[in-house]
Amino acid sequence: MSNTLLIAQSTMEQEIDALLAKMTLEEKIGQMNLYSGFYDATGPAPEGGSAATKYEHLRKGWVGAMLNVRGAEETRKLQEIVVNESRLGIPLIFGLDVIHGQKTLAPVPLAEAASWDMELIKKSAAIAANEAAAEGVHWTFAPMVDISYDPRWGRVMEGGGEDPYLGAKIATARVKGFQGDDLSSTTTIAACAKHFAGYGFAEAGRDYNTVDVGTYTLYNRVFPPFKAAVDAGVKTFMNGFHLLNGEPVTGSARLQREILKGKWGFDGFVVSDWGSVAEMIAHGHAKDSTHASQIGVKAGSDMDMASGSYLKNLVGLVKDGKIDEANIDEAVRRILKVKMELGLFDDPYKYSDLEREKERIYHPDHQAGVLEMAKKSIVLLKNEGNLLPLSKNQKGIVVIGDLADDKNSPLGSWRLASENNTAVSVLEGIDAITKEYQFVQGPKVFLEASFLQHVKINETDNNGMKEAVEAAKNAEVVVMVLGEHGFMSGESRSRTNIDLPGLQLKLLKEVYKVNQNVVLVLMNGRPLALPWEAENIPSILETWQLGSQSGNAIAQVLFGDENPSGKLPMTFPRSVGQVPIYYNAYSTGRPVNKEGNVFWSHYADEENSPLYAFGHGLSYTTFNYSDLNINANDSKNIQVSVTITNSGSRAGEEVVQLYLHDPVSTLVRPVKELKGFQKIALEPGASLTVSFTLTDKELGLYNRDYEWVVEAGEFRVMVGGSSEKGLTGSFEIE
Ligand code: GLC
Repeated sequence: MSNTLLIAQSTMEQEIDALLAKMTLEEKIGQMNLYSGFYDATGPAPEGGSAATKYEHLRKGWVGAMLNVRGAEETRKLQEIVVNESRLGIPLIFGLDVIHGQKTLAPVPLAEAASWDMELIKKSAAIAANEAAAEGVHWTFAPMVDISYDPRWGRVMEGGGEDPYLGAKIATARVKGFQGDDLSSTTTIAACAKHFAGYGFAEAGRDYNTVDVGTYTLYNRVFPPFKAAVDAGVKTFMNGFHLLNGEPVTGSARLQREILKGKWGFDGFVVSDWGSVAEMIAHGHAKDSTHASQIGVKAGSDMDMASGSYLKNLVGLVKDGKIDEANIDEAVRRILKVKMELGLFDDPYKYSDLEREKERIYHPDHQAGVLEMAKKSIVLLKNEGNLLPLSKNQKGIVVIGDLADDKNSPLGSWRLASENNTAVSVLEGIDAITKEYQFVQGPKVFLEASFLQHVKINETDNNGMKEAVEAAKNAEVVVMVLGEHGFMSGESRSRTNIDLPGLQLKLLKEVYKVNQNVVLVLMNGRPLALPWEAENIPSILETWQLGSQSGNAIAQVLFGDENPSGKLPMTFPRSVGQVPIYYNAYSTGRPVNKEGNVFWSHYADEENSPLYAFGHGLSYTTFNYSDLNINANDSKNIQVSVTITNSGSRAGEEVVQLYLHDPVSTLVRPVKELKGFQKIALEPGASLTVSFTLTDKELGLYNRDYEWVVEAGEFRVMVGGSSEKGLTGSFEIE
């Protein structure tokens, strides 16, 4: 750390000490209290959390932070109360779920992960930070870095997919994008790695459900993106609602003190999830609110989101000697440090600037940035007969499906500060390229939709089916836009059925009966089970929920202005019965059917293989892999190189992926693990040799004592355009 930085840090420490010395116990505890604002509930309303109570508490300095307050004007108003009317005037920090944008929305995080483009992901987070900071937000509750194998869990849309290596790279990119190089700048905000740890392994994909994973999975699959976030300098962490191996994570000193603040040296603060301190009572871990507060503070949960437990109980607990005031001081120190780094003590109103808000929100540069992100997030799953791309002079295009005209669903479900119906729809995107098409809605799919309720879906009313089939009959090509409503994935949106919802598959089959030239455009927040579609439909585009510029990105890919380059960050199952299904699984002792009998690891009624594998994604061109070369002379720096040629007729981008397998290991290793990737662009006919360096960092794993170990022996390498196939080789290390 540079001298200047060291001096700044020690000055800051001195300022914090001086401030702490002035604070009463109530004022210290006030800093640990986070209230929700008056606009959005992103969880069950807190008891007694009425607006009136909060103003009183603001004046008393009993509130250190607020979430769900939006806009320069509102944040300024509340900040003025605290700064001018509370005794010490310690500024509030305003947090918000800026998950993938403030007003200008980027694709949902799972879609961004499909781009495998870390520079673009970082830029997308920077755009989100820029607009959030212009609307008075200091702190986002993102990136969510929970690894998950379970598309029944609605929050997969919010993460980076199933792989810890890709997830760690994305965590780094997003933290650096949100926080930039200078946290005190009014274009950056503090980030928050969440939900520490293991939330994505909720049993049966049911949100908030129990998590029970062994240390091997915890250390080698769950932890890596969180550790990457710490290494990237993330300022805050959020724990979670769930039980991990018998202990609520909100009450886990092992996770928060031993691992996060101890081993990893995290120097920011930990915020609870919404009400999760008090929820330790429902878990059966705390006797009452007082006990829950004691557990939370002792476990290193520095700030209590929206439960009011700390404010209610900590003074008494300290006075009764049940909590050391040193624990309180440590938490408050961490919180004050982030506020100082944001520059809030220098100017508490610097982020609440009406002029800047007007100038920044929906800035054309932001729209251009999220459009680029959206285009690179689209995955071409199938393109038999090269039905895609469509020609711009194509006649007889019929577009069918509710979602084609939907300006809301592409915004996803985590869009608190955005405005309804601000996405470019597919029809609007196509309109910008050609007017030569006919739109037929077909049967209504989504009957009713709101953020706080489940989407009501039409399961019976076929009205519109006939018109759609009629229109398809005479079409040259049919573009079917099908999938989920934006509020069907996200928090507390778990589903046991991951087929196309409602009558959509029936509509697709009826249309396909009269016209086989069908392009299926999927709009969804999670992997879906699409066996019939994959078997019959010639071209399938996975477009996720692409945010504000959704329709333009989709249309530019449909008509070939953009050659799709996305790769799946999460496995698509053939059936929900296969879940959890993921590429980096273990061999088992009976991986194949040797004697032609039933005694091997398989299903009687389904294949073991996925419908579409992790890392899968096609292009309008083709790529050829050759000359895999492995140089293991230096076992500390193994060099792997491969040549990729664009063997097609148009420019394109390819994500070159390197997978490793250690066939003999004390702790069994997955059949393959992603340990390197590079996204390259190639003109038709051009070739490029791509190199990877493998070190202990790529070869090793954590053992049960959380020690990094590298075992000698053979390692197998596969390099290709997906986790399914590629050029293979091997090397030995001593
Ligand atoms: C929610 C989510 C968390 C979010 C928080 C504030 O329940 O679990 O990810 O940041 O509450 O909205």
